[in-house]
Amino acid sequence: MPSPFSFQSSGSIVPPYDISGSDITITPLLPDDLSAVSHLTFPSYRVLLEKAVNTTNEKILALVARSKGIPVGLVLAEPPSVMDNFSYNEKKNALKLISVMTDPQWRRRSIANALLQVLTQKSRDLGYVRLITGYTTKIKSLAAFEHLIASSGWGAPVPSMELSIFRIGDMETASWLDAVSTPPPGYQLFTMDKITDEERVRINTDIAAGDIPENLSPFAEEEYLVPEISVGLRSGGDIVAWMTLIRAPLVADALCYRTLFVHPKLRTAKGFGPLVAATAGKLHAASPIRKERPKGIFATSFNSIKQLNFARKRLNPHCFEIYESRKAQCNLQP
Ligand SMILES: CC(C)(COP(=O)(O)OP(=O)(O)OC[C@H]1O[C@@H](n2cnc3c(N)ncnc32)[C@H](O)[C@@H]1OP(=O)(O)O)[C@@H](O)C(=O)NCCC(=O)NCCS
Repeated sequence: MPSPFSFQSSGSIVPPYDISGSDITITPLLPDDLSAVSHLTFPSYRVLLEKAVNTTNEKILALVARSKGIPVGLVLAEPPSVMDNFSYNEKKNALKLISVMTDPQWRRRSIANALLQVLTQKSRDLGYVRLITGYTTKIKSLAAFEHLIASSGWGAPVPSMELSIFRIGDMETASWLDAVSTPPPGYQLFTMDKITDEERVRINTDIAAGDIPENLSPFAEEEYLVPEISVGLRSGGDIVAWMTLIRAPLVADALCYRTLFVHPKLRTAKGFGPLVAATAGKLHAASPIRKERPKGIFATSFNSIKQLNFARKRLNPHCFEIYESRKAQCNLQP
């Protein structure tokens, strides 16, 4: 669908029609806008605004809707990372919609719709073939957002991950934690602060060879890793399973149970997944970090049937909240 917007020589994009009788224009974010737009995205994404106006950074797209020069809406997008829960092909030449927000007083006047139309046009001009996004069913504007993307030509959202949220104080009393506390002969549990350089190199080699998916690496989001309570399982010089715990970047009082991985050859009925998960859970319960981060977030892909069974049977009965993340995409090709 051709966009109803056109760029002016000033860089402004002016709709050829009035948005509810107002004078809305859409322009790229400028350095002078920073303080006036920070309320138009979620706190955790505000750090991206400064990056977006840095002229050497051409990756983050930030577009502002204004009325009489005053920002009333903002859309932010950037290329996806290896951590995003989309396939390699879906992420190839894709741009990820991170946030779209309209000032509460300006909602339901087609401003977000206009922002997405301009984002679509600009992304296509830049050679992207797809827009993708991920979000959770907890966002307050879920109905509005899903309506918005549907009316902007996106495909239907699909469930992506089940998120099980617990208080470690509730989980530590769960009986399954003690049912799986000892590794069989020949296997040793250890914490990730004790991983050796050789083991690290070997895991990275397996990742590079495609034997371990990059987003399941024990080093995924390593800047947030809490190594002294993240758990690995060794056998004969190999690391065969792990459960890593990271400081959840978007939730201040939770640890994210980030990657639960068991070597494919050892997945049948050995119980290594529950073993490393239970050990990490017990270490979380016993660690001083529990004061700062008393909650745990365990995310399971809906494609991972075994892990979903594990979460539903063992974790969910002790969780105070369970919700899902969804993903959606918009094809930009004709
Ligand atoms: C989602 C949000 C951006 C929509 O902004 P908006 O400017 O009010 O949206 P628009 O007026 O362009 O409406 C877009 C579509 O959504 C529909 N819509 C808007 N608000 C709605 C609501 N509360 N319930 C149902 N539908 C709604 C509109 O009718 C319109 O549909 P149509 O094109 O079929 O007529 C806004 O609610 C918001 O800022 N929410 C907080 C931020 C957020 O959660 N963003 C989404 C995750 S990044």
